[in-house]
Amino acid sequence: MNIIVFFSGSGTNLEAIIKSQDRFKYNVLAAFTNNPGAKGVSICEKYHTQCHILDHNQFSCRKDFDTEIGKFLADFEVDYLILAGYMRILSEAFVDDWQGQIINIHPSLLPKYPGLNTHQRVLEAKEEAHGTTIHFVTNELDSGPIIRQESIKIEPNDTQESLMDRIKELENKIYPETISQLP
Ligand code: GRF
Repeated sequence: MNIIVFFSGSGTNLEAIIKSQDRFKYNVLAAFTNNPGAKGVSICEKYHTQCHILDHNQFSCRKDFDTEIGKFLADFEVDYLILAGYMRILSEAFVDDWQGQIINIHPSLLPKYPGLNTHQRVLEAKEEAHGTTIHFVTNELDSGPIIRQESIKIEPNDTQESLMDRIKELENKIYPETISQLP
């Protein structure tokens, strides 16, 4: 299975996915980011993974930006696009072109808490459990069919930071494994 990983930030999931290639028998053909300053860029260098950087600020609209991504992808035979902390909403046309082939990981137990700041919102709502969801991407934000969900118990001393760390640890473990089980 051939995948391309999209990221925008710290890239812990990116690293877990790259590191697990041999174990889980998929190939990371390349990575893509919209953020030239993302930590994930140096992770790609460390593992000699090709990283394509396209700064979305250089584009006047989302559609043009995504068209440019499409040109980059045209060079590869790709089975799945794996979003791992990719913080840009994809245009409808792009999602339609890749229907059923874009996977995302979202730090909440969807359908609860789509969108941003999930750890803060979960704490404010005094939830007892939190978690992460791997799902197909559709044109409705954080709402596509769920592939896998894992939960953790929220402890009395948890903070936004501790929840973020605990959730990422869980994600780093289950995302590579789940990718390897995609049809
Ligand atoms: C993860 O928590 C993921 O669920 C969300 O963004 C975060 C990315 O973290 N979509 P990282 O860049 O993989 O460290």
